[in-house]
Amino acid sequence: MPAKKEFKKVTTHSLQMMKANKEKISMITAYDFSFAKIFDGAGIDVILVGDSASNVMAGHETTLPITLDQMIYHASSVIRGVNRSLVVVDLPFGSYQSNSNEALISTFRIMKETGAHAIKLEGGEEVLESVKKIIAAGVPVMGHLGLTPQSIYKFGTYTVRAKEEAEAEKLKKDARLLEEAGCFAIVLEKIPALLAREVALQLSIPVIGIGAGRYCDGQVLVMHDLLGINNEFKPRFLRQYLSLHDEVTKAVQSYIKDVKSLDFPSEQEQY
Ligand code: KIV
Repeated sequence: MPAKKEFKKVTTHSLQMMKANKEKISMITAYDFSFAKIFDGAGIDVILVGDSASNVMAGHETTLPITLDQMIYHASSVIRGVNRSLVVVDLPFGSYQSNSNEALISTFRIMKETGAHAIKLEGGEEVLESVKKIIAAGVPVMGHLGLTPQSIYKFGTYTVRAKEEAEAEKLKKDARLLEEAGCFAIVLEKIPALLAREVALQLSIPVIGIGAGRYCDGQVLVMHDLLGINNEFKPRFLRQYLSLHDEVTKAVQSYIKDVKSLDFPSEQEQY
């Protein structure tokens, strides 16, 4: 019998150990089985089933329209492709902001119907009661501060957050409160690198940045941005590792050409 491949599952505890050992944490979004399987096999630490699915999978302008049912569909597909990575699922807009009871019910649905390992939600002090109740129910929670896309209509723009003293102070306080409430990690989105550094030094839980600079304990990117699937989105913080948009275009154009010219299928490609 072939030897079973050995791997150690990533847990919230291993992420804390990574921070303690100064090993950076890698995180990427995924929304379906096939990409989740590739990312897991490549050795990614955390897979986020982000509500950015609303943008990159469904083509909406914001993350607001995606529903809890749709997030559950994406998350259960991702889970089927994963052996090792920790899978975190976003609570979508409107599934937790009313009260902590609603937050708990949405969390229970995600955990029961997808098999995911943790949830993420946006906000600080204003969602603290929900965070505490979810953790008390045994579910690990990842916080999300800075640019929180579910509040885009309050912010009015996707520019860098917390450049002013008052917002930076609130962010630091919120980060402390989320840690005290029991969050296992926090995402900081699009804030100055030195502020993210201060937060990462201040907290004992991992701080994972997107557009928050090099001093965070880990980094997260949206898979479509990293792989260059969407070739129109090129913010300063993004490092694009592939130009999949161009590669796929070239491949499909070759396929069209081969079909039209009767080159495909050849005799060897038929029964
Ligand atoms: O939904 C998402 O993809 C996210 C990341 C940007 C952190 O929340």
